[in-house]
Amino acid sequence: MSLLAVAVGGRGVVDPAEPVLRADDEALLRGRGAFETIRVYAGASFRLPEHLERLARSAERINLPPVNVMQLRELATQAIEAAGEPDVVLRLIWTPGNGDGDPTALALVSALPDHHDALRERGQRLISLRGVRADEPWLLPGVKSTSYAVNMAAETEARRRGADDAVFVDPEGIVLEGPTTNIWWRRGRTLYTPSLGLGILAGVTRAAMLELASETGYAVEEGAYSLGELADAEEAFTSSSVREVMPVVELDGAAIARGPAADELQAALRRAAEATLQA
Ligand SMILES: Cc1ncc(COP(=O)(O)O)c(C=O)c1O
Repeated sequence: MSLLAVAVGGRGVVDPAEPVLRADDEALLRGRGAFETIRVYAGASFRLPEHLERLARSAERINLPPVNVMQLRELATQAIEAAGEPDVVLRLIWTPGNGDGDPTALALVSALPDHHDALRERGQRLISLRGVRADEPWLLPGVKSTSYAVNMAAETEARRRGADDAVFVDPEGIVLEGPTTNIWWRRGRTLYTPSLGLGILAGVTRAAMLELASETGYAVEEGAYSLGELADAEEAFTSSSVREVMPVVELDGAAIARGPAADELQAALRRAAEATLQA
């Protein structure tokens, strides 16, 4: 990650090289922190209210102090301004500190990864990996916590096997999501995506795409689908704030065709970002 700027609750903008966490911060010791990753287009954070709502929900589910939304908004503005670049990645982090004092609020701004456009051109190779279906509250369905080591290990395993990314399936072979993405596929004029009832993350991009799909002329079905249904798709793609809409060209070594929906939805997403700027 190429860090451009950091803003900290109670301190404002600091040098990105400065320490900003206590050594006994619960987010560090136990992964009990909540975070959001947000795409900034031309200086404006895309769907910031939705990200802040999800952050507040995550914090509540892992028993953190209530998120100070005003403070995080202010820190986000300061960090984006300090970064001085229009198209960047914003991370908001909320930790309980050591549990005795004040929570820690951080806004980090980093450069966009430089390989995403090339990957969108080429399309991603995915492998399926067995994941956990978070179907009990203590498995934290839909929570974006700083305990992301499993997600990162899945990405590493995918790369070790020569793929670009992974898609998790539950023990019964039901498709869930990627380590940092939601998954979609198309048959005819219908798009399919796993339902939130499966304990996956309610992607902000996923929600945007549900709106954009009908504008683009596609119906959407959400449900519990087997890996075979994804493998037989006429086209497939992932969605996330940073990677946006990214076509999939291979699943477990078998080709998946390219199709029009991924490009149409990527264009629609960019138009939506543009419209936010003009609003
Ligand atoms: C597990 C998981 N699923 C889906 C997503 C996509 O969510 P969003 O569109 O809000 O970036 C993410 C984002 O990081 C994620 O970590």
